[in-house]
Amino acid sequence: MLRLVLAVSLDGRLAPATGGAAQLGGPGDRRALEEALAWADGALLGAETLRCHGSTCLIHAADLLAERQRCGRPPQPTALVVSRSGRFPTDLAFWRQPLQRWLLMPHPPADRAAPPQGFHRHVCQAGWSEMLAALADAGLQRLVLLGGAALAGSLLAEGLVDELQLTLCPLLLGGSHSWLPAEPLLPGPQTAAASWQLQEQRPLGGDELLLRYRRRV
Ligand SMILES: NC(=O)c1ccc[n+]([C@@H]2O[C@H](COP(=O)([O-])OP(=O)(O)OC[C@H]3O[C@@H](n4cnc5c(N)ncnc54)[C@H](OP(=O)(O)O)[C@@H]3O)[C@@H](O)[C@H]2O)c1
Repeated sequence: MLRLVLAVSLDGRLAPATGGAAQLGGPGDRRALEEALAWADGALLGAETLRCHGSTCLIHAADLLAERQRCGRPPQPTALVVSRSGRFPTDLAFWRQPLQRWLLMPHPPADRAAPPQGFHRHVCQAGWSEMLAALADAGLQRLVLLGGAALAGSLLAEGLVDELQLTLCPLLLGGSHSWLPAEPLLPGPQTAAASWQLQEQRPLGGDELLLRYRRRV
């Protein structure tokens, strides 16, 4: 089960026109994000988002941490960083965060460099279906996808995202940073036939609205 979780502006942007590290959501969105992380075994993150922000989101809410402990789960979902290059600055706060860090290479280049230090595990597979199967075999079945657009686009193009959880934030940003890349998704059978069924609509306070859609099968 793979759930995309993003905060987006009313005009569908996930970052300001200038790009860089985006923080669009308020406290209600933060709670929804932490609830999604608390549900998850692993959290997928595009390498560019990690390089922009320097760290990944952690669960801080005491009730969510206590519930994971009660269920015998680790405090944080495993951070699953997706990259082709494997290039990351060595001084990121991410390397000191208290969680498991895995590097995922779904289509590893033949000439790939040695993987960087700091990851507990490297997972290379021939493609996304194989990657998700390998993660499930390793016990990571419930996955959240935290963006950015390039990573979301590649998984949506292959029809592998089951749920879309979007927080609509009361902002108009303009610019080119839509929550999907500008290129069309591959016109494969999975994407062409996909439509989405509304599962949840919830005001989060602060004029934010959570929308959760599930892929129709
Ligand atoms: N509003 C929100 O909720 C939210 C959430 C997340 C991100 N953001 C914003 O989004 C922006 C970053 O998004 P982005 O679209 O530029 O980048 P991104 O999707 O975070 O990362 C792109 C990078 O991820 C790796 N990658 C992506 N798809 C891959 C695939 N199929 N196979 C192998 N590697 C893959 C590549 O890494 P390498 O270059 O290392 O090969 C690629 O350059 C930032 O401004 C960030 O603040 C906003």
